[in-house]
Amino acid sequence: MNDVRKLARERMKGFCRVCPVCDGRACAGEVPGMGGLVTGASFRNNVTALAAQRLNMTALHDAREPKTQLSLLGFDMELPVLAAPIGGVSFNMGDSMSEDDYIHAVVSGSRAAGAVGCTGDGVPPFIVDGAEAALRAENGYGIPFVKPWEGKELYDKAERLLAPGCPVLGVDVDAAGLITLRKMGRPVAPMSQKELEDLASFVHDAGRKLMIKGVMTTEAARRAVDAGVDAIVVSNHGGRVLDHCPGTAEVLPAIAEAVRGHIHILVDGGIRTGVDVLKMLALGAEAVLIGRPVSVAAIGGGLEGVKAYFEGIKGQLTQAMLLTGCASLGDINESILYRG
Ligand SMILES: Cc1cc2nc3c(=O)[nH]c(=O)nc-3n(C[C@H](O)[C@H](O)[C@H](O)COP(=O)(O)O)c2cc1C
Repeated sequence: MNDVRKLARERMKGFCRVCPVCDGRACAGEVPGMGGLVTGASFRNNVTALAAQRLNMTALHDAREPKTQLSLLGFDMELPVLAAPIGGVSFNMGDSMSEDDYIHAVVSGSRAAGAVGCTGDGVPPFIVDGAEAALRAENGYGIPFVKPWEGKELYDKAERLLAPGCPVLGVDVDAAGLITLRKMGRPVAPMSQKELEDLASFVHDAGRKLMIKGVMTTEAARRAVDAGVDAIVVSNHGGRVLDHCPGTAEVLPAIAEAVRGHIHILVDGGIRTGVDVLKMLALGAEAVLIGRPVSVAAIGGGLEGVKAYFEGIKGQLTQAMLLTGCASLGDINESILYRG
């Protein structure tokens, strides 16, 4: 991965410094770009909240060959990890690769490693064009995310992106905070309970599942359950929609407590290693999404770079499970976290 990161640093010059730890300090305020909004606090809070969690190490147990496999929402995964939806190579990553090549590397590279690739959405049509082509090339093995567009656009895009056969539709409801989209004359908005229910019915009628991304409170999680949504992603959009949000690792336990068993729970924000994956699972998530490091892997190494990154994460997760006594993902719970 060192060569991949070196190449990415050259190719993303002026947009991403590919720091030793991707923590949102160097790129604070760089949106467009790879940073977090304004002070970058929400991005940094994701990283510091995870770093504050510590693990109970033990080597006295029977868990010799930990299993990281998971079946979730129609996907049989080698590790409980997805590539977060990220779009806009030209304006966020310095046009270092075509949108098509980028999203193909993410979707196919994720699948090759046993993970799942998600695709993003935006105003320029090439973002969704690239997403559709990449998902088609993998016969729908991936999750397309659409923004909560007002009116017909949401449904038109949903229909188009489910056509390759994707089992899940994602909507990043927190994109309601992206005022830039509204300024570009393409309004997004918060979703009322009725709108969420209608969307869930539409997706279910098509025989698919609905995942919403951008849940940060127990109240919003309960609303998602009541509307019939199948999965939530606890996320602050990598700190790109609202400054001064807590880190997702801070809010995850209460959300998991409130809705566990009623809806699938995923999380993203600041996850960088297999140890971070383990911590998020211990805090209540079933699976995690990783954002910026996957972009770096794709820009620096294409499909092979993404595959190698996820294989590294799987190795780190396996090792961390071994030293916390977890034979399978089902064994991971709060008891592995150090509480003094
Ligand atoms: C450059 C960039 C573009 C993004 N585009 C999207 C998008 O189109 N749709 C979406 O749901 N989230 C988008 N996100 C948010 C990510 O999916 C994810 O929530 C976030 O990056 C996770 O944090 P991490 O990068 O610290 O892992 C974007 C993030 C970045 C950095």
